Amino acid sequence: MKIFDDIQKIFEEKFGAAENLQKYFSPGRVNLIGEHTDYNAGNVFPCAISLGTYALVAPRKDNKTRVYSMNLADKGVIEFEMNGLKYDRAYDWANYIAGVVAIFEQAGYKSSHGFDMVLYGTLPAGAGLSSSASLEVLMSVILNENFNFGIDMVEMVKFSQKAENEFVGMNCGIMDQFAVGMGKKDCAILLDCNTLKYRYSPVKLEGCSIVITNTNKPHSLVTSAYNERRRQCDHALSEVQKVKPDLKGWGELTNEEFEELQQNITDPIERLRARHAVHENQRTLEAVAALEKNDIKRFGELMHDSHVSLCEDYDVTGVELDTLAELAWTVEGCIGSRMTGAGFGGSTVSIVKNSAIEEFKKVLHDGYTKKIGYEPSFYVADISDGTHKISD
Ligand code: GLA
Repeated sequence: MKIFDDIQKIFEEKFGAAENLQKYFSPGRVNLIGEHTDYNAGNVFPCAISLGTYALVAPRKDNKTRVYSMNLADKGVIEFEMNGLKYDRAYDWANYIAGVVAIFEQAGYKSSHGFDMVLYGTLPAGAGLSSSASLEVLMSVILNENFNFGIDMVEMVKFSQKAENEFVGMNCGIMDQFAVGMGKKDCAILLDCNTLKYRYSPVKLEGCSIVITNTNKPHSLVTSAYNERRRQCDHALSEVQKVKPDLKGWGELTNEEFEELQQNITDPIERLRARHAVHENQRTLEAVAALEKNDIKRFGELMHDSHVSLCEDYDVTGVELDTLAELAWTVEGCIGSRMTGAGFGGSTVSIVKNSAIEEFKKVLHDGYTKKIGYEPSFYVADISDGTHKISD
């Protein structure tokens, strides 16, 4: 792969020539539907994409790890010792990697040496396409390969999520790491986050493509707003559990059951948050059934409803994402469009007829730039396999 020739040049520049270089690829993800349902014991329907993180890795003899990202050249080479790791601001982006090493160690999987690593990412930063999960699962797979731990992918996915929750402090659900680790070419994954039961569903969009549109919104305070939504849902759940003690999460309820139970939630805002979680989960199941019957028109309608619910009930969209979605809904060849990921910025995902992609881009580019003051960017997504080592 040509990309690795470029990475190798940088590797030799930073760390000198090395033998036994290992190559890895770890994808990003786009979620087609099922947003903010994963930590609410609901279903999600994401897929891994061919944009992601490439890594060239050489084992070291000592306990030190040195990492360099070609995308974040100004951060230089970041170094840490492999044992007893704690979050350190100085590690900057490499906390995602260090966190995985620490979580593995806590679980009894101790690293006996470190690595030199150069990374190159094709995921746009801040686009809501899970560059952090891509890094976490990448490091999990590197440790598992090099130390022959024999851990299966679902377990590595859980360790990666734990690294993000406990080391980095983002209280995310399991969707991103699951999609990154378990992704399969040309398939989306229907994952029940309550039981971790999953199945692959082939994405056959005859004559259509998945188009990701990045708002390019500069920094947003995703972590604090995200953790707040999660607290609101959990608090509302604790109130309903007083009358329904066996309820584990919002994903277990139908819309009708929620209607009857919602009066137990005191705070009207928390009631809206919970309503989104229940309705979005039901929408996800209906959307997957529609896609499997080749009814992409219905799938598109449900994407629309998902966005409206994320805007009105969950309040995680914002003017940038709303502008992109509303413009997309005006394009005739656009089957459906919605925000994807945590929200507050990041990207929308749309299903667009191939013959209408150019018009779609023009309408969104012009309308968005006029209203927001800077341009969006577009990526046509290919659905990829999960994180893996690449053999020559
Ligand atoms: C982020 C989190 C996921 C999920 C989505 C919203 O991407 O990391 O766990 O909650 O937001 O669906």
